[in-house]
Amino acid sequence: MRKTRFALASLLAAVVMALVATPAAAQASASSELINQLNGKLMYVAIPITVLVQVILLYTVIKFRNSERALPTRENRRLEITWTIATAIILLFVGVASYGVLANENITHQGNDIAADNDPVVVTAEAYQWGWNMYYPEEGNFTTGNKIVIPADRPVYFQVTSTDVIHGFHVPKLGLKQDAMPQSTNTIKTVAYEEGTYQGYCTEYCGVAHSQMYFTVEVVSGDEYESWLQEQKAANSDSSESSSNSATATNATASNTTAANASQ
Ligand code: CUA
Repeated sequence: MRKTRFALASLLAAVVMALVATPAAAQASASSELINQLNGKLMYVAIPITVLVQVILLYTVIKFRNSERALPTRENRRLEITWTIATAIILLFVGVASYGVLANENITHQGNDIAADNDPVVVTAEAYQWGWNMYYPEEGNFTTGNKIVIPADRPVYFQVTSTDVIHGFHVPKLGLKQDAMPQSTNTIKTVAYEEGTYQGYCTEYCGVAHSQMYFTVEVVSGDEYESWLQEQKAANSDSSESSSNSATATNATASNTTAANASQ
């Protein structure tokens, strides 16, 4: 009894510790930061529970290994109340911690509204069989094929859609994932922190070239982004006719490294 109480008390202490501790490692984006921190917190809860269960299991197996026959257990109301309360506290902690993350704008963006605050960047990610056309609707709607360039430390909204079947927009390192549905748009939001190139994938099985539906997200500094934007706009106005043609050309060959607009 005393041992069990001690074990439950240690478990509760670990949960309280998890509430206080937050891993401070540098994160690539606001979304991945939230996800990884939640994952870390849940690990603090999961590890002591795993250890407790394994210890009880081993203890039971060793202690009763020579028992001739099983004896009926007797009711222990205090123990039952203790573990019911302990479980409730753990579940409450998991629920509150998860809900806080799920409700965050950088995890679940409600509807398709784009908050005008903080000068947001808007990218339309349009999937097709089998590739991506990324557009910048706020900047003249030029397309960059399967490459996205975004500035660090600025809110970015991705409007994810599809021209044919269901695809999936997924950038694991940035903590981004959203379904690409035909005839509808799902918006997700993040703020990227770390400059660099991130790999994106299609995550819904969508036909023979599904596994080649890659794209990249390049996170650059604010200045680099502005000059890149000016280049894109200039190139687009020079060849608006040819670019609109190549943007709609759904090239169904396996290699989508040849972007719809390789010239850009
Ligand atoms: Cu598109 Cu899988």
